[in-house]
Amino acid sequence: MTDLDAKLIERGRKIFAGDWQFIWASPSIETLPPMAGMEVAFAGRSNVGKSSLINALTGRNALARTSHTPGRTQELIFFEGPQDAGFRLVDMPGYGYASAPKAKVASWTSLIHNFLQGRSSLARVYLLIDSRHGLKDVDLDILKTLDKAAVSYQVVLTKVDQVKPAELEQRMEATLAALKTHPAAFPELLLTSSRTGAGMAELRAAMIRLLDERR
Ligand code: GTP
Ligand code: MG
Repeated sequence: MTDLDAKLIERGRKIFAGDWQFIWASPSIETLPPMAGMEVAFAGRSNVGKSSLINALTGRNALARTSHTPGRTQELIFFEGPQDAGFRLVDMPGYGYASAPKAKVASWTSLIHNFLQGRSSLARVYLLIDSRHGLKDVDLDILKTLDKAAVSYQVVLTKVDQVKPAELEQRMEATLAALKTHPAAFPELLLTSSRTGAGMAELRAAMIRLLDERR
């Protein structure tokens, strides 16, 4: 690890150890909070672990609501950090949840796509992919939207505690290969487990680096 990495990790640790609070929930694109500072959003299929990741990042058990069953988060949920953080975290509804009522799925899906395309304060999207399942067709739709919107995004493999190293290796290769045709995608993956805390320090540091670049 370089000195720079160590510094970013320490700054990330401090900022995420601060007081993070729920500030706003938007069921629609018309009800978004006024923009202030930067936003970092977490997108992915239902049940991939978006809300759990926000809890693990902030060291809070129940800041974001999680559930064993898909379809828990149904609005865009905004969290604000300590004063000096300078950015918000946005928990998003999941997509690709086949058993939810059709009208709900349609409304979440359009909310997700509209938010990702039309929010100028959105500095980075972390696209979460379950490391047991890899990229699915519904993820490819989101990749298309992100490419079109030219929002910078990075893929995060979640639940790495659930796969054997050889399988993880295969999944990483396949995911990176698929991302090659998506120029807006950051060309590296983050490997995380909200259960073991794996990858959290790196993800926090990546957000601090982004902030430094954008400020
Ligand atoms: P929706 O809001 O429904 O879109 O889901 P979500 O992506 O926010 O997923 P959520 O965080 O609610 O987690 C879904 C389930 O996965 C829960 O049962 C979590 O405990 C579990 N889970 C989340 N992260 C991990 C992880 O890193 N490892 C393991 N083993 N389970 C996890
Ligand atoms: Mg959720």
